[in-house]
Amino acid sequence: MDPPPGWLSGPRKKKPRLTGALVASSPQDVKFQDLVLFILEKKMGTTRRAFLMELARRKGFRVENELSDSVTHIVAENNSGSDVLEWLQIQKIKASSQLELLDVSWLIECMRAGKPVEMTGEHQLVVSRDCSACPSSGPQKAPPLAVQKISQYACQRRTTLNNHNQIFTDAFDILAENDEFRENEGPCLTFMRAASVLKSLPFTIISMKDIEGIPCLGDRVKSIIEEIIEDGESSAVKAVLNDERYKSFKLFTSVFGVGLKTSEKWFRMGFRTLSNIRSDKSLTFTRMQRAGFLYYEDLVSRVTRAEAEAVGVLVKEAVWASLPDAFVTMTGGFRRGKKTGHDVDFLITSPGATEEEEQQLLHKVISLWEHKGLLLYYDLVESTFEKLKLPSRKVDALDHFQKCFLILKLHHQRVDSDQSSWQEGKTWKAIRVDLVVCPYERRAFALLGWTGSRQFERDLRRYATHERKMIIDNHALYDKTKRIFLEAESEEEIFAHLGLDYIEPWERNA
Ligand code: CTP
Ligand code: MN
Ligand code: MN
Repeated sequence: MDPPPGWLSGPRKKKPRLTGALVASSPQDVKFQDLVLFILEKKMGTTRRAFLMELARRKGFRVENELSDSVTHIVAENNSGSDVLEWLQIQKIKASSQLELLDVSWLIECMRAGKPVEMTGEHQLVVSRDCSACPSSGPQKAPPLAVQKISQYACQRRTTLNNHNQIFTDAFDILAENDEFRENEGPCLTFMRAASVLKSLPFTIISMKDIEGIPCLGDRVKSIIEEIIEDGESSAVKAVLNDERYKSFKLFTSVFGVGLKTSEKWFRMGFRTLSNIRSDKSLTFTRMQRAGFLYYEDLVSRVTRAEAEAVGVLVKEAVWASLPDAFVTMTGGFRRGKKTGHDVDFLITSPGATEEEEQQLLHKVISLWEHKGLLLYYDLVESTFEKLKLPSRKVDALDHFQKCFLILKLHHQRVDSDQSSWQEGKTWKAIRVDLVVCPYERRAFALLGWTGSRQFERDLRRYATHERKMIIDNHALYDKTKRIFLEAESEEEIFAHLGLDYIEPWERNA
């Protein structure tokens, strides 16, 4: 008893005859197990929806009353794909990328055929590229039909080095840095979070609609984005780049050993160039700053991956001379896949070493390099690590492991790369290196902490505190509810303790 052709496309106002109870089909009635339909009421109306649902069920389709994870096909009428995605987002519903968004015309054809018909482009709802709810992968490519609410925490986002919004993130990085120089903590954090969330987007922002529903973007941030969309640049950023204080602080802090305090002092004294500072007889410098000036040119030029690998060989040779079973892992930006860095970071840990051997390791490494004439600067900080100390609540706190900040002399012949960057006459380059030693059972926490990025670490701590009542730092994870330390052998286990999906190191470039 199929209805005559054309009945479904008749006027919607016409009262449907079939208005039976909305009962879900029992499993044996379902002929097409692979499809789970949901019919959107919006712009279709309750009666027509009820009618279509009942009809589809009688034809052997599984139709859900409510939208759930099991739904595979959403059918809508008079809605675009973007409308449907927006509706889903308002319902705070996560839709998988497998979800099909279809026009009612597809359902009508299925009803006529008495079975699922092929979905063609005519049936599939189009998601316009400026749909705010939809991450698209750039202006040319059709966006995937994935609706995933973006988290306010960087540790719940995947941020690769493929930044689609550099024009915006560069602007916010500069504004954040300016506020850091002025010690405006609130605004600095606001801009850092904005830059971070934009780095995670899989599409380029080209209109204000694109940023609807994205967290961490307040009114001030939005107005800057709008200005960049319209003018290609931000007047606030231009002002910062021309600001005396910003320019001076940027220059001064580029010297190893110079932080905000020293920059402030030099700025107030009226200094604006490094050469004036260097040659001023009245100034005194720390040992760190003297090294910073001495090797300035090398240290401001970025460390390449080839150089980092060559340093890795040096570190392993020196470490294994004392502790052959030690693990040496390159951490920091290079572990996140960066091609260059401001330094090279290493985490060292040995399963078999005694406490004494562990404590002696960096001292032995240092004296070995000193003998070889490779040590241009070092600052060895002894461990203040205590096993039962609770993790620190401070977000940017330094950790308690033994560590060494160094400048190493890296001979060009040790670097496996082109030689065009070699300066004439000089056969080596000064490289900043950080070495950290941790007890073997802490290696997962230390690795997670020293892999960064800083924003990723900040949000990991914030997430643990606010969402899990836990405290995490570079040493440990503590559950405040259960009042116990949670142990972990790997980074994966730490993410699992925190109830987080695992984020790979190269996805932590937040
Ligand atoms: N870190 C830390 N404690 C410190 C210094 C660094 O926990 N005293 C961690 C930070 O979480 C940071 C990581 O170690 O993310 C690496 O620090 P750093 O070398 O400053 O940054 P990178 O991310 O490696 O960036 P770059 O390539 O510029 O070196
Ligand atoms: Mn680094
Ligand atoms: Mn470092």
